[in-house]
Amino acid sequence: MNYPQIVSITKATREAPDIKTFLFSHPGPMDPGQFFMIWIPGIDEIPMSVSYITDNLKGITFRKVGDATAALYALKQGSKIGVRGPYGKGFTLKGKKLLFVGGGTGIAMLVPAIERAQQQNMSTTVILGAKNKQELFFEKRLEDSGSTLYISTDDGSKGYKGYASHLAKEVIAKDSFDSILTCGPEAMMKHLLDSTKKIPFQASIERYMKCGIGLCGQCCVGEGLRVCKEGPVFTRELLDTMSDFGRYSRDAAGRKLSL
Ligand SMILES: Cc1cc2nc3c(=O)[nH]c(=O)nc-3n(C[C@H](O)[C@H](O)[C@H](O)COP(=O)(O)OP(=O)(O)OC[C@H]3O[C@@H](n4cnc5c(N)ncnc54)[C@H](O)[C@@H]3O)c2cc1C
Ligand code: FES
Repeated sequence: MNYPQIVSITKATREAPDIKTFLFSHPGPMDPGQFFMIWIPGIDEIPMSVSYITDNLKGITFRKVGDATAALYALKQGSKIGVRGPYGKGFTLKGKKLLFVGGGTGIAMLVPAIERAQQQNMSTTVILGAKNKQELFFEKRLEDSGSTLYISTDDGSKGYKGYASHLAKEVIAKDSFDSILTCGPEAMMKHLLDSTKKIPFQASIERYMKCGIGLCGQCCVGEGLRVCKEGPVFTRELLDTMSDFGRYSRDAAGRKLSL
């Protein structure tokens, strides 16, 4: 399990500018919120959450941001990548009415959780936030999931004008939810955490990863919690103990980076 399995990309889809989904053969169960270490031969190995789950196929959806993701983006159907995992702790789906808040590429890893919640007859409301309408993706997939869908864009080019966390506050004021599940920019998730104190809350967070299996300590947050092992999904109770959540992360050399 801890060696990369070499797989062919069976389908490559461009979702939005600089955002692609790759599907590949990967039999076996997996929880929404878990992640893979994706090896791009000759370049790097990077963590990517699962965005598509079936018995035999899995998928990742990613934004081109630097060297590794640019090399990944350049690959096509039939290209080969290495896949290690699944790793980490995913979402726990509990309650009857769930609110999902996805900012930017964060929505990619929430969709399998939304689809699974729907399969379990839960009611799902989704806030899909992006900088502008060109960067929105998975809208059709979310509509097909049977969710109630709200859209926000920072520039107001589609839906509510403003941040997904601000729209979430308005939606929560009008309706009640048993649980909030979120993934997106950490400042957005921290704002949502602090403004919804009474509702059970889970957030998926990112830290720089090397081993992905709990050995190197590179991805620690708070009081020694490893994002790759105890996370990447953490509950409100643990997020509240992390003095760095929403404030800073660390680069590959351990230097602090303000968020
Ligand atoms: C658990 C987890 C799940 C993720 N899932 C997704 C996803 O579904 N879709 C998506 O687009 N992105 C996801 N990411 C982020 C993705 O791993 C980074 O965008 C990618 O590693 C950037 O590499 P780069 O060389 O292209 O960019 P760089 O220019 O090297 O870095 C750009 C940014 O990515 C971060 N980054 C670089 N290398 C790593 C690494 N090894 N581990 C963590 N962060 C790194 C850097 O700290 C920096 O903030 C996830 C990260 C984690 C930790
Ligand atoms: S990446 Fe090594 S402990 Fe998490």
